[in-house]
Parts: sequence; C-alpha cells; structure tokens
Amino acid sequence: MEIIKSEADVETYIKEQKILNKEICLIPTMGSLHDGHLELIKKAPAESSKVVSIYINDLQFDDKNDYINYPKNTNKDIDLCDKSNVDIVFIPNEAFLMNLIDETTIDLPKFTRYMCGAKRHGHFLGVYKIVKVLFSIFNPDYACFGKKDYQQLLLIRYLAKTHFQNLKIIDVDIIRNNNIALSSRLRRLSKTSFIKAKLIYETLLKSKNNLLKGDSFNIVKNNLIDKLNQNGIQVEYMELRSLDTLEESKNNLNKSAIFIACYVDDIRLIDNIEI
Ligand code: PAJ
Repeated sequence: MEIIKSEADVETYIKEQKILNKEICLIPTMGSLHDGHLELIKKAPAESSKVVSIYINDLQFDDKNDYINYPKNTNKDIDLCDKSNVDIVFIPNEAFLMNLIDETTIDLPKFTRYMCGAKRHGHFLGVYKIVKVLFSIFNPDYACFGKKDYQQLLLIRYLAKTHFQNLKIIDVDIIRNNNIALSSRLRRLSKTSFIKAKLIYETLLKSKNNLLKGDSFNIVKNNLIDKLNQNGIQVEYMELRSLDTLEESKNNLNKSAIFIACYVDDIRLIDNIEI
C-alpha cells in the first residue's frame, strides 16, 4: 500500500494505472475509519485499484466546533487500510484540493434543500464541491458511498449522472453495531450515551412495524419523538420520504424510508430505515 499526498504523486499513480490497464475505485472518507467504511472498501470491485481518500472537509461543516472536534486517527486509519487490501491512501493537504474547486458549474438538485440540507446550511454544497474535485483528480471507474448518508448518496448519483457519466456509484448498506449506525462521531459519546443511542434504531424499527400495521405517519412520528425525548435524545427531524426523489411520502409506504437526525449529548447522529 502506498500513501500519496501531492498532485505529482496522483499524476504518477494515474499514469501507472493506465499502463496496467487497471480500473480505479475511489472511497472518499473523512477518516476515523470504522466497520462502515471498511464495508465500502469490501464492496470495491476485486480487480480494481482501491483508493481511500482521507480528508476532513471544512466546507461541509456548518458548525465550527463540530469541525474542530471531528475525530482524527490517521495512523490507525492507515493501518486499517493496509489490512483491508487498499492500494492507495490519499491524504491531500487543503491547498491542493481548494485550488481545484470549480465554482462555476455548481448545480444542486432540489432534494438537497430537505432534511440535512435544511438543517445544516451549506453542507451539501461543501460535499458536492469536494467530491467533484476528488472525482476530477482520480477520474475513477467506481466510487463507493454508504446508505447511512442516503441524501448524500443521491446527490453523488446526481453528480455522477451530470458530470461523470462513466463512473459507477456503488451503494453500500448501513453497518450497525449494537443497533447503532456506525459513525465516526460515536467516538465522542460517553458510555451512557452510547447505550441511549441504541434507541434510535430500535424506535425506527418499531415505527416501521407500526406503519406497516396501518398507523398514520403522524401518530408514529409523535410516538417516536416522545420515546426518544423521554430518554434524553432530541430529534432534529424525522421524515417519511421517497427513496427516489426524497419528496415527502405522506402515508404512501411504497419505495420510501424513514429518515432521522437527532442529538445525543450534543452529538448529531443520523439513521434511516427502508419501509
Ligand atoms: P464519512 O462520514 O467519513 O463517510 C464516508 C463514507 O462512509 C460515506 O459514503 C458514508 O455514507 C459511509 N458510511 C459512514 N458510516 C457508515 C455506516 N455505518 N454504514 C455504511 N456506510 C457508512 O461522508 C463523508 O465522510 C463525507 O461527506 C465525504 C463523502 C467523504 C465528503 O467529504
């Protein structure tokens, strides 16, 4: 495994892959890797050259404290990548990526204004800009993204469709531990909050069952919010939306999912469940 950082390193790497006639699979991350990220690596096509990028992108943080406190574990990340058959770890410096941002052709689809887009000002614009730069640098054949950040996944599919037509997006199911959707931010939770966080998925499961039994979404939503509030979890949003368009599903359960964002001890966690 190789660690590359500079523009020159990237150029050499791309040239080598061309000579070897090897496809490239990019796995963008912000580091502090966990089993969710490792699942993305596992889903990369076996014959491809696997590139994991590690970059905490301040453009996508609406809260400076969240950015400053975002966990960093570069040495451990490199070790995990090495053990997971990654070919290249890309750890760029900020100037490298920022110089390549193209401010002229930004078009965000309507659904980026919903849910996380409504609550985290500028978040998806920041994601769009950085991922577009990563795609332009590596021009990958494949890129892996997780369904935990489902709204992000749809934005990436849109970006690929509009600007990188040869790129195939591989989407990866949510990986959980003890019923908690894994997230790098979990490292900041105390032991008691970690136990509380299990309730998020447990109440989502219950909500799904109640919807399938015929309860209206409003009732299901109120019950879920009450249950989480009673346990000290603040719900930022809980919405039933179409998996294709992210428009509100009302009570139509066809191809829809419940999406949730909440705070446990000031740590923001998201999750979703398909109906
Ligand atoms: P990060 O939060 O590090 O996540 C990197 C990738 O791992 C994303 O595609 C995310 O959906 C996926 N992922 C995270 N937790 C997961 C889980 N429990 N199960 C399955 N997949 C999971 O998402 C970002 O970074 C950034 O926004 C990025 C795309 C790198 C742009 O900066």
